[in-house]
Amino acid sequence: MVTIKTEKEIQAMREGGKILRDVYIKLKDFIKPGMTTKQIDKFVHRFLVSRGGKPSCLGYEGYPAATCVSVNDVVVHGIPSNEIIIQDGDIVSVDTCVYYKGMHTDAARTYLVGNVSEEKRKLVEATENAFFEGIKHIKDGSRVGDIGSQVQSYAESLGYSVVREMQGHGVGYTIHEDPGIPNYGEKGTGPFLKAGMTIAVEPMLNLGRRQVVISRQDGWTCRTCDGSPSAHYENTIVITKDGVEIITL
Ligand code: MF3
Ligand code: CO
Repeated sequence: MVTIKTEKEIQAMREGGKILRDVYIKLKDFIKPGMTTKQIDKFVHRFLVSRGGKPSCLGYEGYPAATCVSVNDVVVHGIPSNEIIIQDGDIVSVDTCVYYKGMHTDAARTYLVGNVSEEKRKLVEATENAFFEGIKHIKDGSRVGDIGSQVQSYAESLGYSVVREMQGHGVGYTIHEDPGIPNYGEKGTGPFLKAGMTIAVEPMLNLGRRQVVISRQDGWTCRTCDGSPSAHYENTIVITKDGVEIITL
């Protein structure tokens, strides 16, 4: 079911969004080679709690952590671990949701650690740009396919592939609400976007082929099939009468 949020609910999400924005700013300096992905998870978990929030991901469909930390060929849903050590040259996506004043808000960033190759840096930059391309002309009355078509054509024009198995989504009362927001598709198709809807837009771009596989070991970790690097960038936005408001930036 697609839901329209009240001004009060949106205000709560704006405040949750500020918490996410702030933790992601802090992570820029915090993430270093030699650190484990579990240390990143702990840092984020503590930060959310210190600001009066709760980590929505923890326990969501059995998910065991506050964040997803996805390194290099891991697209999304990497489970933080004491065994995964960040190396110089890695790209590390951190994805988390906060529950604050009764509402959930969702965002993700991909960080460059140390000396990152130019091809990976460009991939990360393109993934961020793809988000902004996707929402550029979105407003009340736009359609879901208007986002996906823009993300896809931008990404593919640069030679990147777009992950199809994972997508953005409505967010607010729960982490994942309708409608799904694919990062591919046709302009002028799909559900209509209305003022007061809150959605998470989250391009996932691969340097190589678009196919992904989910770990049979943990049931979560999503990797590129060809082992190529993947980047992720996500913000929660509010659809407004004449545009969008990005509330996690
Ligand atoms: N932003 C992530 C997503 O949309 C949130 C994942 S929470 C998890 O998939 F529990 F599913 F990991
Ligand atoms: Co999301």
